[in-house]
Amino acid sequence: MTDLLELQKKFISKHLFAGGIAADYTMGNGHDTLFLSRTVGPRGRVYAFDVQSAALQSTARRLAAENAPQNYILIHDSHHNAGDYIKQKVNAGMFNLGWLPGSDRTVFTRRETTLPAISAAIERMSADGILLVAVYPGHSEGDAEGRLIQEYLSTLDRRKYMNALFRITNSPSSPYFFIIEN
Ligand SMILES: C[S@@+](CC[C@H](N)C(=O)[O-])C[C@H]1O[C@@H](n2cnc3c(N)ncnc32)[C@H](O)[C@@H]1O
Repeated sequence: MTDLLELQKKFISKHLFAGGIAADYTMGNGHDTLFLSRTVGPRGRVYAFDVQSAALQSTARRLAAENAPQNYILIHDSHHNAGDYIKQKVNAGMFNLGWLPGSDRTVFTRRETTLPAISAAIERMSADGILLVAVYPGHSEGDAEGRLIQEYLSTLDRRKYMNALFRITNSPSSPYFFIIEN
């Protein structure tokens, strides 16, 4: 059966190449950062953000253990401040919303900062860029976050962006993701 995380990577792989610029807007335990780092290789660059120092530590450990290319910057700040750090266009960006797996779940992404961060990430996309936003429903913030993101993305100018939603219709509480391409 289709693995949603693998599917996200397939979409990204059509837009991100060696030497490219990528952003992991929710670093967590660094699985996505590692994938992006390997995809862009030593000549590329990956900006990764998280508000929890535990996430930066976990990601740094993973990247070192996996011998990831030295092409990443781990930033201890909210993704809605990404513009303070990223001064170039981004070929591929990823948001995997929710909480840090293995944590006490007291820190999680919130609409107030998620929406401005997504809006700015869309502005930051390069030509032929891609942004993926994965939503984890089944808790009140995740449900509300997903609804608001969908409402916002539905307003994007179709002549500039294609926004699609990948959702398992016979499992509505499973994670789902938006794909934004320009
Ligand atoms: C589901 S996890 C991400 C999983 C991660 N991409 C991976 O590969 O392991 C969500 C992460 O978003 C982080 N987060 C919550 N609010 C944030 C914010 N405003 N800016 C950046 N990261 C945030 C959480 O601390 C958590 O680590």
